[in-house]
This record gives sequence, C-alpha cells and structure tokens, in this order.
Amino acid sequence: MGFPVKFARNRWYVAAYTSEVTRELLPRTICGEALVFYRTQAGQVVALSDRCVHRRFPLSESHLDGDNVVCGYHGFTYDTSGTCVAVPGQRRIPRTARVPAFPVVEQDSFVWVWIGDAAEADPAGIPRAPWLDHPDWTAVHGREPLDAPYGLLVDNLLDLSHETYLHGGYIGTPEVAETPIKTEVDEERQIVYVSRHMDDAACPPFYANSTGITGRIVRWQDIEYHPPCLYLLHSRVAPVGVLPNADGSDPGGFHVEVVYAITPETENSTHDFWAVARDFAGDDDGVSDFLRESNRTVVLQDVVALNTLAKVLETERDGYQELSINIDTGGLAARRLIAAQIAQGAGAEPARAPSAAATG
Ligand code: FES
Ligand SMILES: [Fe+2]
Repeated sequence: MGFPVKFARNRWYVAAYTSEVTRELLPRTICGEALVFYRTQAGQVVALSDRCVHRRFPLSESHLDGDNVVCGYHGFTYDTSGTCVAVPGQRRIPRTARVPAFPVVEQDSFVWVWIGDAAEADPAGIPRAPWLDHPDWTAVHGREPLDAPYGLLVDNLLDLSHETYLHGGYIGTPEVAETPIKTEVDEERQIVYVSRHMDDAACPPFYANSTGITGRIVRWQDIEYHPPCLYLLHSRVAPVGVLPNADGSDPGGFHVEVVYAITPETENSTHDFWAVARDFAGDDDGVSDFLRESNRTVVLQDVVALNTLAKVLETERDGYQELSINIDTGGLAARRLIAAQIAQGAGAEPARAPSAAATG
C-alpha cells in the first residue's frame, strides 16, 4: 500500500488559523474544493464554495455587503447559508441559485471545515490541540505550501529518524536515528502512537537555545496522530537523569507540543500548518522568535525534500517498489487507517445543499 493521494471525505480538516479569517474574503482550496472564508459582522466564520452558481466567477474576487457576498461579475448575492437572495434584472430567483455551504468550527486557534456530507458533521469528533491558545502555554505558528501529496508529509512526520539526516544542526542528533521506536494503534479511536525515548542524548540547538540546558538530555518524543489531519508531537526534554515524579508532575522537564495540521489542498499539493507551543519562558519574545525561525527552517527543509520526492515519484511506474523497516511501522499504520477512512467515505459527495454554517 503506497502513501495516500486521495482524501477521506466526511472528515474535519484545518482550513486556516482563526486569525486568518476576517471581514476580507479568503480563498482556500481544501481537498480539491475551492472555498471562500469570511466572518459575519457578529464574528461567525462562514465557508462557501468559491464558485458563483451563475458563471463560476470566484466569490473570493467579490465583496461583502453586510453578511452577504455579492458576486463581483454580475451581482448574484448569497447569504451565509449559500442561498442566493438577489439576482440582477429580475425579481424571481431561480430555485437552484445557491452555492454549497460547509460546516466550520473554531477550536484551538484553528478553523476546521467539514468536507463531505454536512449532515454527518459532528464537532465532537474534532481532535484537540489545546496548547495552542491556552494561557499557560506560549505558541508560535506558520503555514507553508507543499507541492506534494499529503501522504508524503504523513510518512515524513510519523518517522522522525529523518531528523538526524535532514535536520542536523537544528533538531537532529545521532541518537534519534539510533533509538528504536514503539508503535501502537488505537483502532477504536483511530489514533497512531509512536514513541521514542532517549535517556542520554545530545541536546540539539533547537532545545539548547530555548531551554538553556547545556549538557546532555533526556529526550522523549511521543507522537499522537489523528488521521487524516492532526499530528501531535509531545516532546519532553530535561537534563540527563531528571525524570517526572511518580505522581506525574514534572517540574524538572521542559515540554514542547509540536502540532501539525496536514490538509490536502489538491491531490498533489498540501497545506502544511505547523505550531510549536511551550510551557517555559512564556514571556520571552527572544525564545518565541528563535523557535519560530528554527521550526520554519526545519519545515522548509522537509518541504524541499518532499517536493523533490514528489517530482521523482511522478516519473516512477505505477506499482514501484518500496522497502519498509522498523522505523516505518507508524507510517504504515497511518496509511492503513487513512485507506480505511477513504473507503468509508467513498462516494460521499461534498455538501450540495445549503446549510447554516456553524461556529463553535
Ligand atoms: S458569475 Fe457571478 S453573477 Fe455572474
Ligand atoms: Fe522533518
């Protein structure tokens, strides 16, 4: 089973950071659907198809009149449910004059959008990343375009042994590739766990410069992947020998939550949302700037590698050979869960009937 290219419908995907959605019309393609996002005057997020029902003009190239979008070509006017409420030159509005509206939820600093059958959209099913806007944590974030299928980014993030080779000098040290992983899959809750605990490792600049630790470290990497979109890396570093207390408290540890939202844009391009939250030096802007720059550099190293890989794979014959080893167990489990999700949602069409966009 190769890495996934097609996407699972009837799933929640991160479409934007909440701060990106304003009273300006924001175009963004998610899972091949051209969408336009905006906020109502009351602050609710709306997601509509970005194609006018009249002649397919992009609604994102149009303007808002209160909470309605007025098409920039001939003035068809849509309300927040996608229903056309005015057309030029006639009073009668055709019954089919509407564009799809997509359910949206704001949570943990993300705008999540449901791609698929709107009747099945349950906000309770959205996985959480509470550190991103929690008062006890400080987060930096970004979004990079990736010219590769999202499955290549899933593969990349589920196997961190590549840090040693691709991200040396930033987050990679020899111990990452040398230390075996443990993989577990919770089939019921659809989560892949991959953990790598290093008891005595070199401290890479990413952590040395942010925590101030000068010697060798205990470094734990605990991945929790919620396919298809949300990837969490629970990272703990501490001076060698400093472990959490028996009751779980951990005053001697530095905790970093690295969050990725892996959102397909098309079958061959991906929105790579990344965030780094920490529970130390929260008021130190220097640490924030450093982590933002370092992580962006690391993300761009992956982007360059995956863009290259995507190009090469395009020239390969169908059914090309891969060879998987122990480090790939997490990625293979992720492929399997995603394939099942795609099979489950097969045939599900995007929301074609207008429905009120919900914001939670
Ligand atoms: S294309 Fe939108 S009104 Fe004509
Ligand atoms: Fe990487």
